[in-house]
Amino acid sequence: MTAPPLAGRSALVTGASRGIGAATARSLAALGARVVVTARTKDALEALARSLPHEAVAIAADLAAPAAATELSAQVHGALGGPPDIVVHAAGTFPLSPVESLADAELDAALALHVAFPIRMVRALMPGFRARGSGHFVMIGSVADRIVFPGNAAYAASKHGLRAAHEAVRAESRGSGVRTTLISPAATDTAIWDPHHPDLSPTLPSRAEMLRDGDVADAVCWAVTRPAHVNVEEVRLARS
Ligand SMILES: NC(=O)c1ccc[n+]([C@@H]2O[C@H](COP(=O)([O-])OP(=O)(O)OC[C@H]3O[C@@H](n4cnc5c(N)ncnc54)[C@H](OP(=O)(O)O)[C@@H]3O)[C@@H](O)[C@H]2O)c1
Repeated sequence: MTAPPLAGRSALVTGASRGIGAATARSLAALGARVVVTARTKDALEALARSLPHEAVAIAADLAAPAAATELSAQVHGALGGPPDIVVHAAGTFPLSPVESLADAELDAALALHVAFPIRMVRALMPGFRARGSGHFVMIGSVADRIVFPGNAAYAASKHGLRAAHEAVRAESRGSGVRTTLISPAATDTAIWDPHHPDLSPTLPSRAEMLRDGDVADAVCWAVTRPAHVNVEEVRLARS
């Protein structure tokens, strides 16, 4: 019998308490990976970890905190005995406000989760990846990392920042064996839309028109299961 493609590999998935992160954690585990899942909601993480086919680790953390990446990296090294093979950063937030009514908390959370945390996470994990000569960072961007819609200042600015950070990391790690993938989905039917009631809005896509969280998870799984010499630099997902 052939081993599943990620047997013996490990993955850290942020934003794994629901939505795209949870779907990705389930899909990576189904391919054989040992998964570490993180977000703030401990109960959801533990329920997910219990449901996975391999022993999984749940770490509750607020990734918007400045020390979160360093602390999480240490916990992940402790749990796995070394750096993970794959990191999928799916934790995020979706402020939808014109600049004039944007709250500081919305702006701060978007910048912390989409820009500062992923940079700090790469900073914390890259030395181990370089020493091993392998490792794969997958960042969940957005259509808003290249297209700007009204009401999207904090979200689009932070996702453009994530794209820029990703490009810098890719340039800095070229030739090291470390891979970096930016996956940029269009609207996807998850709880991130709940505060905005898309089915009641004439300017937002309806939930039926959106991608599914499993579509994004499939793209992650495809990127991380390419041969080691192939780096999928970017994937754009749109509704056909
Ligand atoms: N859904 C879409 O239309 C869409 C489209 C393009 C890109 N994306 C991106 O995909 C990613 C996942 O979004 P989603 O749709 O799956 O949203 P979601 O269902 O709301 O999930 C967001 C995840 O991020 C976690 N999170 C939020 N704030 C956090 C914090 N301060 N610390 C730690 N974890 C935090 C949440 O967990 P806790 O609340 O438990 O902390 C949750 O697990 C985001 O980066 C989003 O921008 C989404």
